Amino acid sequence: MLMNRIEKAAVNSPARRALQRFYEVPALLRLAGGPLPEGGRAVEIGCGSGYGTRMILDRFQAAQVDALDLDPDMVAKAQHRLADRPDRVRLQVADATDLKAAFDAADATYDAAFDFAIIHHIPDWRASVAEIARVLKPGGMFIFDEVTAHALARPTYRRLFDHPEHDRFTAQDFLAELPHHGLAVTGAFTRIQGDYLLGAARKLDFGSE
Ligand SMILES: C[S@@+](CC[C@H](N)C(=O)[O-])C[C@H]1O[C@@H](n2cnc3c(N)ncnc32)[C@H](O)[C@@H]1O
Repeated sequence: MLMNRIEKAAVNSPARRALQRFYEVPALLRLAGGPLPEGGRAVEIGCGSGYGTRMILDRFQAAQVDALDLDPDMVAKAQHRLADRPDRVRLQVADATDLKAAFDAADATYDAAFDFAIIHHIPDWRASVAEIARVLKPGGMFIFDEVTAHALARPTYRRLFDHPEHDRFTAQDFLAELPHHGLAVTGAFTRIQGDYLLGAARKLDFGSE
C-alpha cells in the first residue's frame, strides 16, 4: 500500500532522516554484527527516496544494491539521489513480494536484505518475509526496522496515515514469523512501548545441518 501525502512528508522530513542516520543505522549495524562482507550484494525493499540506499552503500559498505519501491514518485526521487552511483545501484518500480520480477533474483542471491519501515505497508507481509528469505544466501542477513500494530493503532497514525487494516503484526508476531522462513534472529529490540522494532536475522544454512 502506497504512502499518502502526509506520510510522504513525514518519512522524508529532516527529523526522520536524523533519526535514521544517527540512531537507527548505528543500532542496526550493531545488531547485524557490522558491515557486509567485501563485495557484498544487498537488496532493499521499499527504498522510498533512496536515503536508506545511501546508508547501505556508505555505512553497511555494500558493493551493489538492488532497490525497489512500488511508488514511481519515490523511485524517481531515489534515482535523483543516487545519480552519482549508477554502477553500484539498480532501481526498479516493483512489488517487494516478487523479487524475481523486479531483478530476476534467483534463490540465494544476496548477502543482505534491508527493510527500512516498509513491511507494515504490505497486506500479505508474510509473503514479503518469505521472498526475502528465498533470495538471501545461507549466512546472509535480514536487517529490519519496522512499525508495529501498536504504533499503527495510535491516534496519530490512524488519523494521518493509510495502512493495511488486517493482519497487522506486533513485534512478537514479526519475530515469531522469521524462523518459519529459515531466519534466525541474532538481535532485536523495541522502542516506545513496542511501537518500533529493530533487528537482524541470519539465513540458516540447511545444507550444512
Ligand atoms: C514508510 S515508507 C519507507 C520508505 C523508506 N524505506 C524510508 O525509510 O524512507 C514505505 C515505503 O514502502 C513502499 N511500499 C509499500 N508497499 C510496497 C510493496 N508492496 N512493494 C514495494 N514497496 C512498497 C512505499 O511506496 C513507501 O515508499
